[in-house]
Amino acid sequence: MNKKNMAVYPGSYDPLTNGHIDIIQRGLKIFDKIIVAVLKNPAKTYLFDLDERCQMLRDVFQDPDKIEVDHFEGLLVDYVKRRGVTTIVRGLRAISDFEIEFQMALMNRKIEPRIETIFFVPPESYSYLSSKLVKEIYMLGGEVSSMVPPIVDRKLKEKFRRQG
Ligand code: PNS
Repeated sequence: MNKKNMAVYPGSYDPLTNGHIDIIQRGLKIFDKIIVAVLKNPAKTYLFDLDERCQMLRDVFQDPDKIEVDHFEGLLVDYVKRRGVTTIVRGLRAISDFEIEFQMALMNRKIEPRIETIFFVPPESYSYLSSKLVKEIYMLGGEVSSMVPPIVDRKLKEKFRRQG
C-alpha cells in the first residue's frame, strides 16, 4: 500500500471511546489505512495497561488491512517516520482542545517538517466525551455504556467487579 494513503492516529486510549471510533471512521473516508498507535509512557499511570488497551482496540477493529493497532514509546514523530508515514490524525472536539493540539502539531512540525497533522471534528454529541471523564463517571458509579463500545464497558465492569 502507498504510504501516502496511510495515517497514524496516536493516543493513550485509556480506554477507547466512541469518540475515537468516530475519528477513525472519518479518517478512513480519506485514508486507505489508519494505524492506531497506542502510547506507552512509563512515566504515566494508566487504568488499563498497554496490552489491555491494545487488546480492546483489536477486539473492536477486526480489519487489520484498514485499521492496524500498534504501540509506541518515545517521540511520536520518530514512530511515524519509522512507519514510513507522513500524516498524523487527531480529533478536535472543542476550543479547549485547540490550544494543546495546535501546540503539539506545531512542535511535531518543528521536529519533523515532513510530517503533517490533520484534524477531524466529531459530532457535537461527542464533543464533551473523553477517556478521562468516562473513567471518572464509571468510578463514581455512573453509566457509560452509550459512550464506549460494549467490550470496553465489559472491561470496565471487570476491572471494578461491578455487577450488571
Ligand atoms: O490520547 P492523548 O493522551 O491525548 O494522546 C496524546 C499523544 C499520545 C498524542 C501525545 O502525548 C504524544 O504524541 N506523545 C508522544 C511523545 C511526544 O512525541 N511528545 C511531543 C509532542 S509535541
